[in-house]
Amino acid sequence: MEHPLVGIVMGSTSDLPVMKRTANTLADLGVPHEVKVLSAHRTPEETLAYARTAEERGLKVLIAGAGMAAALPGVLASSTLLPVLGVPMRSDTLLGLDALLSIVQMPGGVPVGTLAIGGAGATNAAVLAAEILSLGDTALRERLKAYRAAQAAKVLASQPD
Ligand code: RP5
Repeated sequence: MEHPLVGIVMGSTSDLPVMKRTANTLADLGVPHEVKVLSAHRTPEETLAYARTAEERGLKVLIAGAGMAAALPGVLASSTLLPVLGVPMRSDTLLGLDALLSIVQMPGGVPVGTLAIGGAGATNAAVLAAEILSLGDTALRERLKAYRAAQAAKVLASQPD
């Protein structure tokens, strides 16, 4: 198993069905990654320890999926200089708008790159992480070009009769 370059973190196993898209997309793009469940509110000490040690363990980008009062991406960003990408999870009550606003409204100076709510955001977090990594990896850049080309081919092949 190659050394993970991307850390995927989520606030609960209930986020896993959506955040699997992140892991699957990174796998498709050939980007080694790890997956953890850590909660800013339920396991604050472990969450901070993960962020503080992520860079020395060789991770290059962190992706955090969280719902409701979604503090996880921001708390990770508070304790690492690695880029942190946040994915808001849909909730039953506020449909993910709660998490979107919690994740996107970071104070100036501590950024979280915020993606769309739910599945599209989970996929795009992986693609964006791969694009960041591809700045120093020409083979990955070629795989990203092929990924884009495959999407275009799929759209063009799906014309109505
Ligand atoms: C957040 O609370 C998690 O990221 C999850 O989206 C939400 C609900 O968690 P569970 O009550 O399903 O564990 O921290």
